Amino acid sequence: MNIENLIAPNIREMHPYVPGTSVVEMAQKLGCAPSDLLKLDANENPYGPPPAALQALAAEKALNYYPDPDQTALRQAIGKHIGMPAEHIVCGAGGDEVLDLIARLFLCPGDAIVDFPPTFGMYANAAQVENVNYISIPRRADFSLDVAAAERIITNYKSQITHGEKFTTPNPKLLFVANPNNPDGSLISEADLLRLLALPVMVVLDEAYIQFSTQPSRADWVLKHNNLIVVHTLSKLVGLAGMRVGYGVFPLDVAKHLWKLKQVFTPNSAAHVMAIGALSDPDTLAEMGHKIVAERNRFCESLSELGWLEPYHSEASFVLCKVTKDFAAANGRPRGLVVQQALEAQGILIRFFNRDPLRDCVRISIGTPTQMDRVLAALKTL
Ligand SMILES: Cc1ncc(COP(=O)(O)O)c(C=O)c1O
Repeated sequence: MNIENLIAPNIREMHPYVPGTSVVEMAQKLGCAPSDLLKLDANENPYGPPPAALQALAAEKALNYYPDPDQTALRQAIGKHIGMPAEHIVCGAGGDEVLDLIARLFLCPGDAIVDFPPTFGMYANAAQVENVNYISIPRRADFSLDVAAAERIITNYKSQITHGEKFTTPNPKLLFVANPNNPDGSLISEADLLRLLALPVMVVLDEAYIQFSTQPSRADWVLKHNNLIVVHTLSKLVGLAGMRVGYGVFPLDVAKHLWKLKQVFTPNSAAHVMAIGALSDPDTLAEMGHKIVAERNRFCESLSELGWLEPYHSEASFVLCKVTKDFAAANGRPRGLVVQQALEAQGILIRFFNRDPLRDCVRISIGTPTQMDRVLAALKTL
C-alpha cells in the first residue's frame, strides 16, 4: 500500500517550518560541547528563567496530578500582570499552540489567512495545516505595512463572495500581524492598527516581543474591539521558552468556544508553577528587559565600526542586519548565508532566511554584553 497517498495532501505537499538550530546536532557537527555554542538564532532570553520560577518548580510536589484544566491560578497571575480580567485569557503550550488553536477555531474550507511577509512563519504554516487559502500582502522595503493594499484586497474578496457560494472565492477571515514584527523588529502604528480593525476580519495581534518596544501592549483593546485577539508568550522576556507557555487575550465570545477545542491539560504543571513564580517578580522581568534593550542599542551602534553590516531599527530582542559587501569566497551563496555560516564555524548560531527579500540579511538575537562582544569579535574576523 502506498502510505504517502494516505497522508492528507495539504500536509504531504507542505514544507516543514524550520525552527532555530538544534544545539545537540550543531555541537556534533562542529565537534564541540553544546555549552561552547552561542545560540542567538531563536530570540531566547540569555539570562534564563527568573530565580522565583526555579524556586517555584523546586517546591512543586504535585506533579503526579494533572494540571488545573481551568488554569485558574495561572490565568489570575497573568491577568494581574497585564491588568486584564482572567476570563479573557486562555493559555497554551507556547504562543505557537495559541496561534494553532485560533486557526482551528475560525477556519473552514474556502477561508483565508492574511498576513504581511516577511513575518513570523507560523501564520503561513497554519494556512497549510488547515488547508485554507493564504493571502500575503508584502511589506514595503522598509518593512512597513501596506494597509491600503490589505483594505483593497480584503474588501474586494468579501464583495465577490455571494450567499451560498462554495469555496470559489477565498474568504479572508484571520489577519495576523506581529508587533514588533519578526524578523525585523518594526512596529505598526496605532492609526494603521485601527484601520485593520475596521476590516471585516478577526485581527490577531502577536505581541511576542512587545515588552522590548516603546509601544504599550494593546491587550486591553480586546475590551473594546470584538474582532481583536492579542497573543503573548513567556518564551521571550520571561525566559521560559523551554517550558512552553503562551496565552491569548480574547473577547469573551471567542474564549468560550476556544475552551471547547483546546486540549485540556496544556500547559503542563511544571510550566504552570514556573510561569506563576516568574510573574510574581515583575522587577526581575523589567530589569532583564532593560538589559536586553540596552545591549541591543549598544550592539547596533558597535556594528557601524564594521562598515558592512547595517542593522534595521528594531524594537524587539533581535536585530535584522543587512550585509552590504560581497565576500570573495561566497561561491554564489547569498550574502546572509555567507555570514551565518562563517559565524557558525566559530560556534555562534544566528538566523539566515533563504527567501526574498531576506537573502542579504541575518537576524541576530540579543544576548548578554559578553556574548555580543563575542559576536562582534567574530564578525571582525570576516
Ligand atoms: C512573532 C512570534 N510569535 C510567536 C512566537 C511563538 O513563541 P512560543 O511558541 O515560544 O511562545 C514566536 C517565537 O519565536 C515569535 O517570534
